[in-house]
This record gives sequence, structure tokens and C-alpha cells, in this order.
Amino acid sequence: MAMFAVALVAALLFSVSSAFPWGGQLDPHFYDHSCPQAQQIVASIVGKAHYHEPRMAASLLRLHFHDCFVKGCDASILLDSSASVTSEKRSIPNKDSARGFEVVDEIKAALEAACPRTVSCADVLALAARDSTVVTGGPGWIVPLGRRDSLGASIQGSNNDIPAPNNTLPTIITKFKLQGLDIVDLVALLGSHTIGNARCTSFRQRLYNQTGNGLPDFTLDPAAAAILRPGCPRSGGDQNLFFLDHVTPFKFDNQYYKNLLLRQGLLSSDEVLLTGSPATAGLVKLYASNQAIFFQHFARSMVKMGNVSPLTGGKGEIRSNCRRINRN
Ligand code: HEM
Ligand SMILES: *[C@@H]1O[C@H](CO)[C@@H](O)[C@H](O)[C@H]1NC(C)=O
Ligand SMILES: *[C@@H]1O[C@H](CO)[C@@H](O)[C@H](O)[C@H]1NC(C)=O
Repeated sequence: MAMFAVALVAALLFSVSSAFPWGGQLDPHFYDHSCPQAQQIVASIVGKAHYHEPRMAASLLRLHFHDCFVKGCDASILLDSSASVTSEKRSIPNKDSARGFEVVDEIKAALEAACPRTVSCADVLALAARDSTVVTGGPGWIVPLGRRDSLGASIQGSNNDIPAPNNTLPTIITKFKLQGLDIVDLVALLGSHTIGNARCTSFRQRLYNQTGNGLPDFTLDPAAAAILRPGCPRSGGDQNLFFLDHVTPFKFDNQYYKNLLLRQGLLSSDEVLLTGSPATAGLVKLYASNQAIFFQHFARSMVKMGNVSPLTGGKGEIRSNCRRINRN
């Protein structure tokens, strides 16, 4: 009884002093008491969305990436434009491209019904990214939680900080470094391109005029380029869709790296992992030959990416609608 009382007092002291007695860190058990159903709710709606549309898993995984690279993992990407917000949805990397927002809305509505104003939209994105990886056959991991949602967005950040598909390897490495992510994180996380689609406009340059000399990208297999050209002509067809991994497009596996070894990566930013430096090429070869190591590194790097500058404690808010800030 006495021990129980001591434990209770200690727990109360901790919980009133700060939600993060260990110093602003995220915690996988964050919702254990406040919303024990949270993870189950997210998993079931992601599972249902993936069943209805297999591409949705890829789209949800990408949303977490595009969230974390802009002002940290704070759900800034989910805000619609309003008097005070210029939405990141209009940025170059997101426009006509980022998708899955309706699924996030559905998850958030279910969470609000179960535990009002408790689970952040930023945590929804982190959980949905993990669950999307699992439903497509990839690794699982424990998701640290307790992120809070931003009070604003940054379209400039979205335009500048998310790497572009025609960036050079040094530029891409710099943009990852800016988030505290290293070369292993880069090569492992790009394995996400084992699922999902890209539009013609994201790789057209490679098919016709890669460096401005009127020639295609010589690091793209000519046979693969010939197959891509009819659906991605010199002009028109910008929005036509292609699989990032044409071999197993709906399966989260290490086929992406095998494609790179065959010079069949779809984006220039994919193929430069092999052609751009010995260090990244070594990792491509490692992951192509060993899926278990790829899965291990991917899971570890997803946790690392999910830890980029979260809002914790009294910062930000828990949005009740992921598309807008509460006081507005
Ligand atoms: C150098 C870094 C990266 C670049 C340049 C890049 C670029 C792109 C581009 C251009 C697309 C196609 C967009 C379109 O045409 O509509 C795409 C799709 C995708 N990206 Fe990345 N990406 C990068 C890193 C990542 C990371 C770190 C993740 C996840 C952790 C990721 C996940 C995805 C997924 C899953 C898709 C498919 C989305 C869908 O089908 O809706 N990417 N990426
Ligand atoms: C990359 O693509 C963008 C948009 O299509 C284009 O404006 C830019 O010139 C390209 N950069 C390089 C180095 O090719
Ligand atoms: C290739 O691009 C360069 C510079 O972007 C341009 O001047 C040239 O006309 C293009 N060549 C062809 C064949 O499209």
C-alpha cells in the first residue's frame, strides 16, 4: 500500500511537471492511457485504404517524409490555405502529387470520436507511415509518439528543403544532412521507392535532354528509356503515372536496389545513389543483396526521420481537424 502511494505520487509529480520528464523526447507509450485504441484505429483505417487502393500505402508513407523535412514532423503539410496559412500542398514537390489527405481525415475523425483532442495529426502521419510499410510487406517498428501539431506551414521550406528528382547527389546529401540524416539514412529511406508512382514530369528530362546537350541520361538503361518514352513524350502527358519499381510495384521489398544495379531506377535521384559515390553505391549493393539488412536500416532510419524537430510539451497544439489550426 505504501509503495503504491509512493508510486502514485511519483507518477503525479512526473505528469504535472512535464509530459516529457526525460527531456522533450518522444515516447512509444505516450497514448497508452489517454487513447489506448489509437494505434489500432490508425492501423485498421490504413489497412482498409490499402485494400481499396493499393497505391495509398505509398502515398501515406511519402506524406510523413514531406512533413518531417519541412519544420520537422509537425503535420504542417496537412494544413489547407487560410487567412494565416499558405498551404504546403501548393509547393513544387507537393502540387498535383502529394495525396492521401482524405485518408488522414478519416483516421483523424475516428480518433476524435474515440479520444477527442488527444492524438496529434503529426503522430497520425508517423503511425500511418509505419502501417503502410507493414501492409505492403515491409518491416515494422515501434513508433515514438507525442508530437504536437504546428500553428503554421512553410511553402518556402517545402520548395527548398525537400530534394528534387533532378538534384545532384551532393545536393541531396546536403538536404538530408540539414535534417540530421546521414548517407545510410538516405540510401535506406530511398528504398521507399520500392512502392508507388511518379509522374512523367518527374523524370522526362532523363529521357530526352538530361544535361542540356540534347542527349538522354546515359545512366538510364536505353531499353528502359525506350519503354518509358511513349507514355512520357517530349511534351504533354506530364501527369502520366509510372511505377517507381516496375518489377514489384506494390510490394515493399529490396527490388528497388536491384533495379538500380540494372540502371533501371526511374528518377535521376534514384540512380545517382549507384553512380554518384562509392559510399552510396556500396550501400545500394548491400541492400540489393540483403533484404534483412535493408529492412533493419529502413526501420531505424524511419524512426530517426520521425524524430526530426518534433513539437513537444506546450508547443503547438493538438488539432481537431488536421486541415486547420484550432484557433482560426
Ligand atoms: C532524394 C530524396 C527523394 C526524392 C528526390 C524523391 C522524389 C520523389 C518523386 C519525384 C516522386 C514522384 C512524385 C510525382 O511524380 O508525383 C516520389 C514518390 C514517392 N516518394 Fe520520394 N523522393 C525522395 C525521398 C523519399 C523518401 C525519404 C521517402 C519516404 C521515406 C519517399 C517516399 C516516396 C513514395 C512512397 C513515393 C510514391 C508516392 C505515391 O505513389 O503516391 N521518397 N518521390
Ligand atoms: C530540374 O528540374 C527543374 C524543373 O523541371 C528545372 O527547372 C531545372 O532546370 C532542372 N535542373 C537541372 C540541373 O537540370
Ligand atoms: C536541351 O536543353 C538545352 C538547355 O536546357 C536547350 O538549350 C536545348 O535546346 C535542348 N535540346 C533539345 C534537343 O531539346
